[in-house]
Amino acid sequence: MMITIKNNLAIAKMEEAGKRLANLFKDLVDQVTPGKTTLQLDGWIDAQLTALGLESKTKGYRGYKHSSCISINDELVHGVPSEKKMIKSVDLVKVDVCASWNGYCADMARSFCMSSVSVPVDEFLSVAQQSLDDGIEQAVSGAFLSNISAAIQKKIEKHGYGVVKDFAGHGIGKKMHEDPEILNYGRAGYGPKLRSGMTFALEPMLTMGLCDVYVDPDGWTVKTKDASLSAHVEDTILVTDDLPRILTRLQ
Ligand code: MF3
Ligand code: CO
Repeated sequence: MMITIKNNLAIAKMEEAGKRLANLFKDLVDQVTPGKTTLQLDGWIDAQLTALGLESKTKGYRGYKHSSCISINDELVHGVPSEKKMIKSVDLVKVDVCASWNGYCADMARSFCMSSVSVPVDEFLSVAQQSLDDGIEQAVSGAFLSNISAAIQKKIEKHGYGVVKDFAGHGIGKKMHEDPEILNYGRAGYGPKLRSGMTFALEPMLTMGLCDVYVDPDGWTVKTKDASLSAHVEDTILVTDDLPRILTRLQ
């Protein structure tokens, strides 16, 4: 396993990639609306990436054809945009985009609930976001990698939700996926020690039911076995000698 340490130039590029991607998500909020197909939404994202000078990292990845993954309700991650999938007023929609700027990547995902979604879902999404924040808080120089994992799991399970264990966060840089793998569960105090200049994509995945998932026959879409609602949020962060810097959030 080799965790790359980014120099100042690489960090500057990742910051720019992150800022541009965060700007895309700022405008995306108004685009995730009932009556739109996930393919239409992906088309908007694709056009925005181009306008922002970003290059999709998912298009062409292992034969994947789209600029985003859009997953609805029991679909957790890697939902394939489709003209057959129309967003409804009761839906929980997850959008995941990874893109590069001048060769360096940022990876980001958010979960959106439509207007008629029930109150417990609001709470569920808030816990998803909090688990990500708790994980990020642990990403300090000198700490153990698994401290991040433990913090994410703790928050999710404290509220009785399921932690999906089949997918994980990852290092990120020139490539979308770099070492290390960052589990969303585990005991604190293990794994490599974090150092300033490491960049990670943290991405908790949780369900309102059981944690078991499977891959749909389409070969991509990951769904919960019990058809429970699921959430996924992701940010790209930089470990520094001070507090972690969240590259995919606007100041
Ligand atoms: N952005 C996703 C991640 O966080 C990767 C999606 S892979 C895809 O790792 F090919 F399905 F897009
Ligand atoms: Co990712």
